[in-house]
Amino acid sequence: MIDWQLNKVRREILFDESRFKVLVCGRRWGKTVLSLMYLMKDAFKANERRWFLTPTYRQGKMIVFPILRQMFAGFNNAKLNESELSVMFENGAELSVKGADNENNLRGVELTKAVMDEMAYIKPHVWEEIIMPMLATTQGECLFIGTPNGYDVMYDLYMKGQSEPEWKSWQFTTLEGGFVPEAEINLAKRTMDSVVFKQEFEGSFETTGNRAAWNFDRQTHCKKAEEISSKLWWGVDHNVDYNTAVLATEYTDGTLHFYHEIRQKNSNTEELAIAMKKVAPKVEVYPDPAGKSRSTTSRRSDHQILRDHGFLIRVKNRHPSHVDRLNSLNRKLKDAEGNIGMTVDPKCIYLIKDLEQCQRDRRGGLDKTNIELTHALDACSYGIEYKYPIRKMTGATIKW
Ligand SMILES: Nc1ncnc2c1ncn2[C@@H]1O[C@H](COP(=O)(O)OP(=O)(O)OP(=O)(O)O)[C@@H](O)[C@H]1O
Ligand SMILES: [Mg+2]
Repeated sequence: MIDWQLNKVRREILFDESRFKVLVCGRRWGKTVLSLMYLMKDAFKANERRWFLTPTYRQGKMIVFPILRQMFAGFNNAKLNESELSVMFENGAELSVKGADNENNLRGVELTKAVMDEMAYIKPHVWEEIIMPMLATTQGECLFIGTPNGYDVMYDLYMKGQSEPEWKSWQFTTLEGGFVPEAEINLAKRTMDSVVFKQEFEGSFETTGNRAAWNFDRQTHCKKAEEISSKLWWGVDHNVDYNTAVLATEYTDGTLHFYHEIRQKNSNTEELAIAMKKVAPKVEVYPDPAGKSRSTTSRRSDHQILRDHGFLIRVKNRHPSHVDRLNSLNRKLKDAEGNIGMTVDPKCIYLIKDLEQCQRDRRGGLDKTNIELTHALDACSYGIEYKYPIRKMTGATIKW
């Protein structure tokens, strides 16, 4: 007999209505057990099929199937198949444990419910190309669960859960799971590298690198605004790919809140300006200073195109260095006294991604090697550097 507890948090997750659920947790939180509860909580209808996917067949066989064996031992209307790792019910319904390592054997049937356990260790295409289509005809549901492994697929799914309809995501530490005593966790903390500890026990997305927005922390900075002030401005970064604009509202105390982003692939400044006008026309724009005399795509300069669409361009003559820009951005995120000067709406996923993932190069500037990244961070920081520059401490001589 297995005595599983269902506390308030676990109940909320299981009974939440979202079709896709993403659960990011530290080790030993109780992920595998909760996933089994998720798969079995409703009665099996005739001929339906529910799957529990683990990164490898072996893991399924060693960790998950023994629990099922224990649960269904002595059940007359359920037949266990040891090599298929499945339970077949009298009404034709099937509950199976599957290894995602042999993914081509998974194709071709219809599923009503799936769990992807330790998702960070399952190849990403298994979800998009194999499991998702199998759930399509039944409008089936899926739970993604696991401990993070850097900024991986679990991160992208978690972010979807924070912003998209039908999706929901949660994040918990090992301690919150309630199955590992605090003393044990403290022991691990003393003996482990802090990045690995945060990932494994706090279920936190970590990089070992050198983050450009080092003061950014999703827990602190991501929130919905209670109100939007009347002062709005855009930050813009021009590129052919990923032309990017981010919209800020500025409160009377100088705090900023970014709450809308536009990201266009293969576009031009004209198209970007039109999209911006639909959301917030005739406001100030803080663009890339380099767009003063050139355009990415037209004979008019980028700045002139934005002006022609009714925006007010704010730009300095000198081009601030990356280092100055990052310093201003980080101070706005959190100053030395711990004041938070800027927040971001969870739906601005590209801006958040940049704030979390952009790295610095060896000279302390922005690492531009990944073309998917940096555009939103650039867009938001031109305005911040312009409005809140770091003043250089230069010695002044006093004339008597
Ligand atoms: N709901 C629950 N009720 C009672 N005990 C539980 C429950 N969930 C987990 N446990 C206990 O905690 C142990 C770990 O649970 P589980 O294997 O689900 O954690 P996990 O997060 O998948 O761990 P890992 O990170 O190692 O994969 C279980 O063996 C069980 O003893
Ligand atoms: Mg597990």
